[in-house]
Amino acid sequence: MTQNNKPLIRSKDLQVNYGTFTAIRNISFDIDKGDFLAVVGPNGGGKSTLIKTLMGIIRPTKGEVETESKVKIGYVPQNVQVRERRFPASVEEVVATGLLMEKSFPKRITKRDLERIKDILDFLGVSGICKKPIGELSGGQQQRVMLARAMVSNPDMLVLDEPTSALDITMRRKFLEMLHHLNEAHDVTIVLITHDLMTASHYVTQVVHVDNRLLYHGAPAKYDPANLTIPMSGEKESQPKGGVVHGMA
Ligand SMILES: Nc1ncnc2c1ncn2[C@@H]1O[C@H](COP(=O)(O)OP(=O)(O)OP(=O)(O)O)[C@@H](O)[C@H]1O
Ligand SMILES: [Mg+2]
Repeated sequence: MTQNNKPLIRSKDLQVNYGTFTAIRNISFDIDKGDFLAVVGPNGGGKSTLIKTLMGIIRPTKGEVETESKVKIGYVPQNVQVRERRFPASVEEVVATGLLMEKSFPKRITKRDLERIKDILDFLGVSGICKKPIGELSGGQQQRVMLARAMVSNPDMLVLDEPTSALDITMRRKFLEMLHHLNEAHDVTIVLITHDLMTASHYVTQVVHVDNRLLYHGAPAKYDPANLTIPMSGEKESQPKGGVVHGMA
């Protein structure tokens, strides 16, 4: 369990460089237990870089990330797609790998695990294909399998990088309702990178807008993308107007 007032993840003055290029800078904010956080911003704004840094996949060039040590995170990276049709793993096996991290040796999948996998695949509408090779699935089906893989270990926090980009509108809504349920009823903290804040806005409790810098962090009701000064190319130093602005130099 986490202590009440301690954030699950705290970022302080983060900067990430790729070579000489600075993808994100001056980013400081907290993710608290129970947040449903939407991370928005333009293509190339640094959203994926930011969450990979928060999860420790990328080391920041500057600044630091503090993570609550016991938090169990389920992560769905952006654009994971198996294009090799004969890739030697079935849907069920791919989802089962989401359980292996927490198992001690010998890592066996139990009958109960298989039932849980089936329930999640059922919910996501892909249980009928659980024996199929993952490479034979469409992009949207593969995306659902990756979601099932992230959810199967009952994480405290789900980090999802545009998880619904290949899903149809019905499945997208259903998926968001499921995230809402996990958030409300099971206190799962959600971090959702999305280009579709409209569909998610009912459920979201916090919005972060990142475009190289953190241009907004606050309640969705006060978020007004028209009121942010999005820096023009080559003018990354300009200051934003309006919004609840954090982490500015
Ligand atoms: N491994 C890398 N090496 C060099 N540059 C990178 C690397 N990954 C990302 N970048 C650059 O960093 C910037 C931020 O990329 P990032 O993928 O974080 O953006 P994003 O907000 O997630 O974009 P999108 O909405 O398209 O997913 C971009 O200019 C991108 O080209
Ligand atoms: Mg991205």
